Parts: sequence; C-alpha cells; structure tokens
Amino acid sequence: MAIDYTQKIPNNVHLSDDKQLQRALEKWQPHFLDWWKEMGPEGFQQKDVYLRTATSVDAKGWATYGMTKMPDYRWGIFLADQVPDRKIGFGDHFGEPAWQQVPGEFRSDLRRLIVTQGDTEPASVEQQRLLGQNCPSLYDLRNLFQVNVEEGRHLWAMVYLLHAYFGRDGREEAEELLERHSGDRNKPRILSTFNEPIDDWMSFYCFTYFTDRDGKYQLKMLAESGFDPLSRTCRFMLTEEAHHMFVGETGLGRVIKRALEVMEEIKSDDPAAIRRAGAVDLPLIQKYINFWFSSAQDLFGSDTSTNAANYFANGLKGRPDEDNYADHIAKDATYEIEEVLEDGTIKPVSIPLRNAMNVVARRAYVKDCDIGVQRWNRLIRKAGVDFEMKLPSERFRRTVGVYAGHHFTPEGKPVEAHVWEARKYEWIPSPDDRAYVKSLMRQVIAPGKMAGWVAPPDRGINNLAVDYEYVRL
Ligand SMILES: [Fe+2]
Ligand SMILES: [Fe+2]
Repeated sequence: MAIDYTQKIPNNVHLSDDKQLQRALEKWQPHFLDWWKEMGPEGFQQKDVYLRTATSVDAKGWATYGMTKMPDYRWGIFLADQVPDRKIGFGDHFGEPAWQQVPGEFRSDLRRLIVTQGDTEPASVEQQRLLGQNCPSLYDLRNLFQVNVEEGRHLWAMVYLLHAYFGRDGREEAEELLERHSGDRNKPRILSTFNEPIDDWMSFYCFTYFTDRDGKYQLKMLAESGFDPLSRTCRFMLTEEAHHMFVGETGLGRVIKRALEVMEEIKSDDPAAIRRAGAVDLPLIQKYINFWFSSAQDLFGSDTSTNAANYFANGLKGRPDEDNYADHIAKDATYEIEEVLEDGTIKPVSIPLRNAMNVVARRAYVKDCDIGVQRWNRLIRKAGVDFEMKLPSERFRRTVGVYAGHHFTPEGKPVEAHVWEARKYEWIPSPDDRAYVKSLMRQVIAPGKMAGWVAPPDRGINNLAVDYEYVRL
C-alpha cells in the first residue's frame, strides 16, 4: 500500500478517514518535533543529510533517497499490508482470527508491551545525540542520522497504536514517551541500558550490532502478536531495523580490518604497538563485544518468567519466527535451562516451555549474533592472523535472571567474587581502555576521509561513492 505524503502526517492507514484520531496525532506532532530539536542529534539540525525515506511498505523499492534536513524528515505511520484472514499463530487462541481491536482482558498487558518497546526508540536517539561531534567520517555521520530518524519513526509507530487503540490512557502514555529522557534522574527511560550515554563510536557500533539486534528480536516476537495492528507495525519496523544492524556489523568489521592493516604495517600484534599506531587492537574489540553482548542479553528478561508465559498463552507475544516451530501451543512441553546453586555450581533444570520463552528468544538471538562474529573471523583468518573473536558464555556478566549475583569467566566457568574483581578488566574494557578509545574519537568530516582507527566501507550508500558528501556541512 502506497504512503500518502500529501498529508501533514504521512501514512498508509487512511488517517484522514478518522478525524478525531488525526487531530489527536496532529496535536502530538509538534511535541515530537520539539523533542527532536531539543533531544535529537546535537549540532546538525540545519544541515542537509542524504537520508532514505519509506515510499511504500512492500519488500522492494520502499525507499527513496535525497538530501533532507533532519527536522524536515517525513516521520509518519507505516504499517505492513494486512494479511487477509490472518489467524493467531500460537498460544491458547491458536487458529482464531487475529484481533483488529484490543481485547479488553489484554488491554493493560498490550499497552505495557507497546509502551516498553516505544520507550527504547527515542531513548536511543537521546543516548546518541552527541556522537556527531566525533564522527569518524561523513559516511558514518550520515548512517548515525539515518538510524536516529528511523528510531524517531519507530516512536511514531508505537504512538500511533497508543492513540488509535488505547483511548485516553494511550494518549497520556504517548505524552510520557516524550517526557522521560535517557539518563534523567527524575524521569529516566524504562530499561536501564537505555539510560547510559553512548559517546564513542566503538560503543555505537556495538550498540547497533548487539542492542538493536535485541530490538529486532523483540519486534520479531511482537510481529507474531494476535493483535494485528501491532503485528503489521512491527513487520514494517523490521525492514528499517535491518540497516541499523548493518551499521553495527560493517562498523565493527571496519575496525577489525583497520587493526589488521596496522598489524601488517608495523609487523607486530603487540596491542601496545597497535595502539601507538592509532588502531584498536583485536583483544580490545573482543572486550567491547563481551561488554555489549552481555548487557544486551539482559534485555530478554528472566530465564523463568510468568509474564512471558502469559504473553505467549494469551497470543500477545510469540517466539521469534514462530513458523519455525512444530508445536505452537507449547502447553505441556518443557525446556531445559540452568540453575545456579548456592556454591556456584550449575545444574540443568526442566521448566514448562511457556515459562522459558525469554530463554528461547535469547538463544535465537545468540545464534544471530554469531553470524557476524564468524564473518569477522574470516577477515582475521584471511589476514593470516591467529586470533578468534568469540561471543562470551550466556552466563557471563549478567545482572538479570539465574546467573545474576554470580560470577563467570567469558567461557562460563564460575569464579569467586574476588577473582572476578581481580580479573574483570581482562574481559571487559578497563578505564584505561576506554580512555584510549576516547582519545581516538576526533571528528573527521572531509568527504571520503576516515579516522585512522577505522577502515573505509567497501561501498557507499545507495551506489554512491564512499567520498560522496553525505552530509553538507
Ligand atoms: Fe527501533
Ligand atoms: Fe534500531
């Protein structure tokens, strides 16, 4: 379905047929713009940026590219096309027609799911607002802004659902999505990870690789929802989200590539020598991976969860790629997770599958994370370097679920607290490591030029050259 761009709010949901909803959203729109100008990317609001915008929601040709000032980006409401006669694909309502309205008994659960998802979208824009000041290239700067405007659009996606289906409390929630701010002492964002500032580009690449990928898995689960408007919204968001993970995967790949080039130039794999030459050594990249992978895993929630079981039973939130499973009811099935005993030893336990849905989703996520890691390893092997990137164990550095409160090495071996304290900076970035990365963060804005710690991308955006002027400064 084509998107109507003649409207004040671009949309493909026939917004003009519902005057009351249209008025309510047109009232929210200036609040969103005020938020964007105040909390969005700092310092580049009046610059032309080469951005893509959705033109339709089908898989092919949905994007158009052009120079746009970010506040003029056409944020709007885009839902994937309705699947005729769509049925609920899992849980106790399996096989029943998908809901076009919110069932009364699930209203507060659905609202909570939508608000929690919605809150992460503007949060990430706020976290990343200062990154433009130390971008490694114009190409990267443009990618950052593309990610940012799309996260802004994802906020629109959730706000539309709140306004259209949740009446007055939905409208109030939509206001609050603009009132909470990342890191705000009084009104922080809902999930703690989204309150940490992201002020260096190693962290940005890791965020887009690991944290945005958690977002992808949350959206995949919500795309299965029996509440059809939520499913359609999330299906289209997933197509936008793919670019964010591309930024992360190619970003970290380029840092690795640059490290390998420097190692070849200086004929050394000594981290100190690599740092003297201005690149990020492979062990340090591994530490960033350890840090971000473990914190992203916490976003999936507890290993045993009655909330997750209820969401599944009630058809609100399925498994990622629910089609891949044979049993969509999952009522009597069990699933093996781990339990950590007092003394730190690990014991397998079987729990009802529905209660283990967070782990099921998390493990699918881990597999997906590993694909990029193996690609990076091919790069390293091709350079003839003896080093392998690895995702740490799911037990490593967790603050949520069964492993929280215990300490494990990246290999998953239990260690006592004093061992963890003594050794943790072998595994995650130390203050010195972070200071080093910070020292590399200098703004590079001449077209085609790259900071010395990151290799240029293989190609530019939309078939343009790498040295295209992606942001006109
Ligand atoms: Fe998003
Ligand atoms: Fe994203």
